[in-house]
Amino acid sequence: MESPLDKYLRLHSTPQGDALSWIERQTNIRTNFPQMLSGAVQGRLLTMVVQMMGAKRILEIGCFTGYSSVAMASGLSSGGHIDTLEINDELEDLIREGFSKAGVENLITLHIGDAKQTLRNLSSSIRSGDIPMYDLVYMDANKREYCDYYSEVIEMVRPGGIILADDVLWDGKLLGDSLPVDRQTRGIAQFNDMVASDPRVEVVILPIRDGLSIIRKK
Ligand SMILES: C[S@@+](CC[C@H](N)C(=O)[O-])C[C@H]1O[C@@H](n2cnc3c(N)ncnc32)[C@H](O)[C@@H]1O
Repeated sequence: MESPLDKYLRLHSTPQGDALSWIERQTNIRTNFPQMLSGAVQGRLLTMVVQMMGAKRILEIGCFTGYSSVAMASGLSSGGHIDTLEINDELEDLIREGFSKAGVENLITLHIGDAKQTLRNLSSSIRSGDIPMYDLVYMDANKREYCDYYSEVIEMVRPGGIILADDVLWDGKLLGDSLPVDRQTRGIAQFNDMVASDPRVEVVILPIRDGLSIIRKK
């Protein structure tokens, strides 16, 4: 159920195009957890971040049905490319259909598999000079693993590059006096503490949707 604030934000932000509407509709029809999709407002923010940075090398951890990948791809300038990582191979057909509807299939490489392994592979390709570092990383996969992803990607982002981490306020569960014991909440809490005390970066958390960290590597 869309809140009055979310509705106002959506109605006063540039609407999503036909391809993103199609992906959103298909996600509602064909998946069990459509609420994982980032949606029109955050999608527009992602497009704009890509445009504002002129980002050409983008890494996404947690593709789901491809909504945020397509949103970022629509902000890419010529020569840009996105690597997107997804563990659930049952989503592959839907993801590829969406990329093709949006006409961005040549701009995005989908890596099916566990992100932790894929990150190790991509990191080793960067270290050996086979691929350049990333300008922008969008982290939106398993909240228990955010610290693992971060430890790997911080070395894969160029100085001045940005890591966006989604859902870092985790439904307000971090705000009480005692922290819930579930591993996802603990994972996010640990991640926020880790980033806030990391001298290699500057960070700000925006309360958009469920919290978005903007982390800039110095
Ligand atoms: C919140 S959804 C991503 C939503 C998407 N970024 C969007 O904005 O529409 C998280 C996704 O991460 C995937 N995921 C979870 N753990 C993963 C892992 N270890 N490796 C790769 N993908 C993972 C899930 O299968 C799920 O599709």
